[in-house]
Amino acid sequence: MIRTGWLSERARRAVERPSAIREIMSLVADYKRHPEKYPRRLIYMAGGWPQDPPPEFLREALVEVAEREFASTAGYPPTRGDPEFVDALAAYEREVFGRTVESEEILSGLGSTALTGALFLALLDEGSELILASPAYLNYERQVSVEVGRVRIRRWPILREGRFDPDLEELKEMVTENTRAILISTPGNPDGQVFSDEQLRAVSDLAEDRGVWLLIDVAYRAFHYDGSPRYLSRERRDHEVWICSLSKELRIPGWRVGYVYADPGLIRALETIEQARTLAPCRPIQRAIARMVESVDPGELRRYLLEYTPRKYGKVASYTAELLGSVEGLRILEPAGGFYVFFSIEELGVGSKEFSDGLLRGYQVAVVPGRDFGAEGWIRASFAPLVEEVELIEEGVERMREYVSSLLQRG
Ligand SMILES: Cc1ncc(COP(=O)(O)O)c(C=O)c1O
Repeated sequence: MIRTGWLSERARRAVERPSAIREIMSLVADYKRHPEKYPRRLIYMAGGWPQDPPPEFLREALVEVAEREFASTAGYPPTRGDPEFVDALAAYEREVFGRTVESEEILSGLGSTALTGALFLALLDEGSELILASPAYLNYERQVSVEVGRVRIRRWPILREGRFDPDLEELKEMVTENTRAILISTPGNPDGQVFSDEQLRAVSDLAEDRGVWLLIDVAYRAFHYDGSPRYLSRERRDHEVWICSLSKELRIPGWRVGYVYADPGLIRALETIEQARTLAPCRPIQRAIARMVESVDPGELRRYLLEYTPRKYGKVASYTAELLGSVEGLRILEPAGGFYVFFSIEELGVGSKEFSDGLLRGYQVAVVPGRDFGAEGWIRASFAPLVEEVELIEEGVERMREYVSSLLQRG
């Protein structure tokens, strides 16, 4: 028997605070295997994965690769990705978003999560500071802790009095000599809020002025419900790092593929880090995406990503927000993008962990406590895993209504 004391300090920190979302996913796996153990159907509104399948043109590309290029996908690819794949990603940026990106500014990897980890290793040292627009995707803090160690995380609050209201003056005050980077996600996870062109320009000006990197995670860039901001099409500024996931927009979270668009010098540093960490991204997946970009009409790709996708998800986003907004005792933040409705439970007199545990145990509805995103008093409900089964969202909200009413009665 190995004692836990034999684990590294970082591993012990990871064990002490596992990812709330990943833990809830284990429960879903258990529910799928043993539904008889549960009193009624589990309604899963916790994870950030899309329910609908990848587009048909991607399936066709993958089949073609399997049939015609099977043997040549088996070898080790270069760490940055095969040159034809990196070129295809530059073409994807140009054709879909209208952005001019040079191949030397791109590094692909095993999902944006692996690349964000590499960025933390490239930019942070123990004792340095990272500013997170907060609430923030819960994995960032865990990744910093596991990958780099004791970095000072400073949280820049972007919600004020229950609405999205990032204060630039406050951010200015937070930047110190030790600050290496500011990280934002837009549309935001967990809050579903979107930085406007003016807001992003102001943050970027400030970062440039103070000599810090600005990391912009656009995992949900195809899920803008009030039109896409112009910054997705403009060229990168020198200190900006764009973290791009293909998981959500192409509905392939299990394929583990994403890329970073950044300064070529930083790309080179990330490449050498990835040589040691992951070796290279998966080649059959690279090939399928490259074939997709080559074969599909750019207009069709653009329509899929920038019209069909936001229309489909936007409809469910506003319906879920409307349903949750009708529950007495909850105060919701209207989502402008992304997969989530974030709502305040402050009136209920319970903590977010207690709320989500009680909801899961008593009503079999899974959501994520705001505490894990740095927002106690809030809850994140994801509609993406049920985007094609809206009746289950309705049922989930009805169960929540019962639960909330019991909490209000308890006083
Ligand atoms: C903001 C944000 N970034 C990154 C990821 C993970 O992306 P990937 O699948 O590319 O690792 C997620 C997943 O939920 C996310 O919400």
